[in-house]
Amino acid sequence: MENFNFYSPTEFVFGKDRAAEAGHFVKKYGGSRVLIHYGGGSAVKSGLIGTVKKSLDDAGVKYCELGGVKPNPRDTLVYKGIDLCKAEGVDFILAVGGGSVIDSAKAIAIGVPYDGDFWDMYSGKPVERALPVATVLTIAAAGSEGSGDSVITKEDGMLKRATGSDLLRPKFSIMDPALTQTLPAYQTACGATDIMAHVFERYFTNTTEVEITDRLCEAVLLTMIKETPRVIADPDNYEARANIMWAGTVAHNNIVGVGRQQDWNSHGLEHELSGLYDVAHGAGLAVIMPAWMEYVHKHNVMRFCQMATRVFGCQMNFEDPEATAIEGIRKFRSFLKSIGMPINFAELGAKEEDIPTLVEKFGIGDGKTGGFMQLDAHDVTEIYKIAAHATL
Ligand code: NZQ
Ligand code: ZN
Repeated sequence: MENFNFYSPTEFVFGKDRAAEAGHFVKKYGGSRVLIHYGGGSAVKSGLIGTVKKSLDDAGVKYCELGGVKPNPRDTLVYKGIDLCKAEGVDFILAVGGGSVIDSAKAIAIGVPYDGDFWDMYSGKPVERALPVATVLTIAAAGSEGSGDSVITKEDGMLKRATGSDLLRPKFSIMDPALTQTLPAYQTACGATDIMAHVFERYFTNTTEVEITDRLCEAVLLTMIKETPRVIADPDNYEARANIMWAGTVAHNNIVGVGRQQDWNSHGLEHELSGLYDVAHGAGLAVIMPAWMEYVHKHNVMRFCQMATRVFGCQMNFEDPEATAIEGIRKFRSFLKSIGMPINFAELGAKEEDIPTLVEKFGIGDGKTGGFMQLDAHDVTEIYKIAAHATL
């Protein structure tokens, strides 16, 4: 196991009807003038924004609001949010929504105290200051409610880029599983795929002797395999929703990733797909991640056998371990298909002829990237090709 720091300062406020406590927690963390930031309307329609406003009124906290965050959130709305916060003297940002809303809120939080263009921080400059951010989560997926990351798409050129800092970790995150019951099945499945991908990015490592995090990873994956079909079949199943919602946070606040090298190439490859085609991040991962696994499995066949046997219930074939590894990957892809995810370019709406563009945007040049297995531009091209043609 490698040395590590684990910093997860967010207060998680979990359970039924907890959104009514938003005002109390904003006050607790020092907010006096709040921007309520939300998406395309689901939180208004469900009455959640009304609940949050009432709670802020009751706590005597002033607020303004900015809706309209799109999935794969855009820089254009971030600039609007920064101007609004400056004009209104906002000192606290409350994101009410999913990963896209939360990431947009984090970008605004970076931009308000910064004199230059907030995009600098999505182009490699470290985040030095940010307004405090908190969340009321409405979809279990990105894990942004506990992470220090934010991913924004620059509308000009549809360039999707990330930044990260502990300053962006939410002060509190309200997580009521019942709020996710209004999700369309497709979004539930996209979220489940993202949660599993966050675990796999950490599970595939060259670090040895990380039994505790291996077992935690497997617990999250087994939970997702059990609970996702239950909520797809029965969207109002609160208990299954609750397990998935907490799994989403645990998968990405890094408790399952400490002490080990991590990979993250599948996320990099996916961000180019959602950048170019504006598809849901989880759907892109469903196409990319099994393809990545097929391409890299020879790098450590036994680790893929561990996944196959412990997570997907495959029998270990000691005479032909690679057969076990391949069977595990096949079962992962079948699971994704069974919950309604696309598994190849055609099903996602991507085009094979765009692969050179995707590789160019990935921006690897003559270099290599990745933790588990270092990839160059040729490797990346091959993975996109596998993803283009994947079948069960
Ligand atoms: O905009 P509204 O109307 O709210 O609709 C949203 C959106 O269309 C809808 N939705 C959310 N909650 C709902 C609901 N519909 C009905 N009922 C509800 N309760 O779902 C759609 C997707 O929402 P979005 O926020 O885009 O989903 P998600 O949480 O998957 O976020 C995706 C974004 O997060 C980034 C992704 O790249 C993508 O841009 N990521 C952020 C990470 C982070 N900050 O740590 C890590 C991830 O790996 C990921 O890259
Ligand atoms: Zn993700």
